[in-house]
Amino acid sequence: MATGKTTVGKLLAEQLGYEFVDTDELIVARSGQTVAEIFREKGEGAFRRMESEIAHELGEKEGFVVSTGGRMMLDPTNAAALSRQGRVFCLVATPEEILQRVESDTEVRRPLLEVSNPIGRIVDLMQQREEDYGRFPQMVTSAKTPDEVTRNLVGIFQANPDLRMSITAPDVRYEFIVGGGILPFVSQLAGINGPVAVITDSNIGPLYAESCGHADAVISVPPGQQHKTLTTVQSICEELVEKGLDRSTTVIALGGSVISGLAGFVAATYMRGIDIVQCPTSLLAMADTSIGGKAGINLPQGKNLIGAFKQPKAVIADVATLQSLSPREFASGMAEVIKQSLIGDPDLFAKIENGTWIRTAGELQPPLEDLQILVARAIQVKINIIQEDPFDRGRRNVLNLGHTFAHAIEIVSSHAVRHGEAVAMGLVAAANLSARLGYCSSTLQYRIEASLEATDLPTRIPADVQPQGLYKTMSIDKKKKAGRLRFVLLRDIGDVFVTDKVDRAAVIETVEELKAF
Ligand SMILES: NC(=O)c1ccc[n+]([C@@H]2O[C@H](COP(=O)([O-])OP(=O)(O)OC[C@H]3O[C@@H](n4cnc5c(N)ncnc54)[C@H](O)[C@@H]3O)[C@@H](O)[C@H]2O)c1
Ligand SMILES: [Zn+2]
Repeated sequence: MATGKTTVGKLLAEQLGYEFVDTDELIVARSGQTVAEIFREKGEGAFRRMESEIAHELGEKEGFVVSTGGRMMLDPTNAAALSRQGRVFCLVATPEEILQRVESDTEVRRPLLEVSNPIGRIVDLMQQREEDYGRFPQMVTSAKTPDEVTRNLVGIFQANPDLRMSITAPDVRYEFIVGGGILPFVSQLAGINGPVAVITDSNIGPLYAESCGHADAVISVPPGQQHKTLTTVQSICEELVEKGLDRSTTVIALGGSVISGLAGFVAATYMRGIDIVQCPTSLLAMADTSIGGKAGINLPQGKNLIGAFKQPKAVIADVATLQSLSPREFASGMAEVIKQSLIGDPDLFAKIENGTWIRTAGELQPPLEDLQILVARAIQVKINIIQEDPFDRGRRNVLNLGHTFAHAIEIVSSHAVRHGEAVAMGLVAAANLSARLGYCSSTLQYRIEASLEATDLPTRIPADVQPQGLYKTMSIDKKKKAGRLRFVLLRDIGDVFVTDKVDRAAVIETVEELKAF
């Protein structure tokens, strides 16, 4: 309330040449009743259904600046619908400024504030909604004119300030902050007090450990999956003990997905659990694995067989660290970015497809501002899905698009194929299978292939892979359910679903067709 949605929304629409829509006004216009009348005559449920319809309708359209009703974005499916092609921002102001704005607005009555302690009432409302609103990038409007706020928003579309999103896990809530050059501010941004132990690998430590500021211990392990073991966990824990680090210690996990999982496991178990801040340094970790709280280590019998859920205190993604990533690792991360875009952000896919974010000749990567937006949008897809399915009841499985194929390809190639590369092959396979089963046209496969190729990713399954063998590997992979394999299929970009009704023959035909010569 009174954070400037309407004023700023109209100014922004004017600047961008878009149309401005207020969802409450749209409902009133369509139903021919005031909001109060709808509540009285049809009930709140009916009003929420109208909001939801509008969210889904506008989510499909382009060229609109939408100001939403106060409670509309509390429903995660509305939030997901409007985030599919659009960018969602939450305008915020201090309680004092909100009260002042409401009081000076003589046109509208705000019955919610006709109480003895309006500031207290505003603070209550803010606290109630904080959790749900917090996951959108916050724009502070206090002490700013509507013109200034509008300029800031336009600035964000053209990139720059840190982007913040909140993730609500069943028992905690944490922020994902992405920016360029923010590693030196990790302690302030994550609110770390007390001793710090940086856990990193020997590629990354020498480059960035010092940037994290004072640390009571910097523990470096050799890079690579093969070191994600109990032996490494033991050596890290022994070093923590030797340095006299107790339960008040915060771990900074500085590295790619391997460090993220390893340090997460240490933090989950050392002295029955200590805080951890994730500082992903690979594109793959930034765009995918750094949220969700999965921590794990490998056994000789298989990957991630021992693990725990360990939610971080915060995720601080500094895209400046990506500059030292090798081109092959960068491309691997792009496979997950493209995956996220296919799951829930068609506009992100279109930008990748159009080459908006492809590096220019001679450059290894796009500029930092672009990387920041790329990471923010990819992770927003994952946040929205997690939020839609907080208790992991099924919808989250869509995040595994391409992964049934990918995991099996990694295994049969004895991990010669990188995870991201296998995901690239898996995405093509998922599209091929979807078209084969009549869910989409084969054009979709070609578009996905072209985007992956432009990012230097492989799109064909290695020639020595035997389709029957690959199918068998898939079947024994741990993700099988009730004896049937599950696949994530595409109806379109941004429209994916999980099914276990796929015939073996169709999968084998897909693998045959996609094998390299
Ligand atoms: N099960 C899954 O779905 C799943 C999902 C994602 C990742 N993974 C696993 O994670 C691994 C891939 O993720 P990753 O790429 O984050 O792994 P990683 O941690 O192994 O990083 C890849 C390499 O890049 C180096 N590196 C990372 N950041 C760097 C930087 N800023 N500058 C220079 N070098 C840097 C690392 O030292 C390492 O050698 C794979 O082993 C994969 O199996 C699994
Ligand atoms: Zn993956």
